[in-house]
Amino acid sequence: MKLFLDTANLDEIRAGVELGIVDGVTTNPSLVAKEQCKFKDRVIEICELVQGPVSAEVTALEADGMVEQARELSGWHPHVVVKVPCIPEGLKAIKRLKAEEIRTNCTLVFSVNQALLAAKAGATFVSPFCGRLDDIGHDGMGLVAEMREVYDNYGCDALVLAASLRHASHVKQAMLLGADISTVPYKVFAQMVKHPLTDIGLKLFLADWEKVKDLV
Ligand code: E4P
Repeated sequence: MKLFLDTANLDEIRAGVELGIVDGVTTNPSLVAKEQCKFKDRVIEICELVQGPVSAEVTALEADGMVEQARELSGWHPHVVVKVPCIPEGLKAIKRLKAEEIRTNCTLVFSVNQALLAAKAGATFVSPFCGRLDDIGHDGMGLVAEMREVYDNYGCDALVLAASLRHASHVKQAMLLGADISTVPYKVFAQMVKHPLTDIGLKLFLADWEKVKDLV
């Protein structure tokens, strides 16, 4: 499973890239707003840091406007993938963008019906928002499982990009369910590498090494 960072923060992206395990980045208007930066500049900076897809979202609500924005966004850098919301106008835009070979990430997906439509429209990535479903008492990971089953049953090319992941256990479930990609906030990324037994084990090894290091 590939791992994307879900952030527009350059320090977080640099730190992730240094670890060598960032396959891409997803942004959204809320993540960009947190950074108080110029959208275009930030997207290009991220693209230059990351060797992989970088999602940047359209804000138009009609297909014509989305397509126009998508053409502009995708012209900024070859890594850009255009995020388009899962609404009827978004599906129309995705279909047109596919014909122009512009990669899309269909975002704000909350049901397997939406996921099938996004795939049929030709989205490259489809993003189920798991945490937001959990927030309202639904089953976010259940949606990932349904998408995997449906995409496999019908031979859909779209990639399942598990999104709105809130903790390391979400990532574990996403990989066991066969998500193609998980996009995670840096905080979750950091949780994934931590295990108390690793820290305890390391401390013990170093203490024992102190006892013998002068003998070698
Ligand atoms: C994904 O592409 C979205 O940017 C993101 O995962 C949304 O997460 P949130 O529900 O925590 O805002």
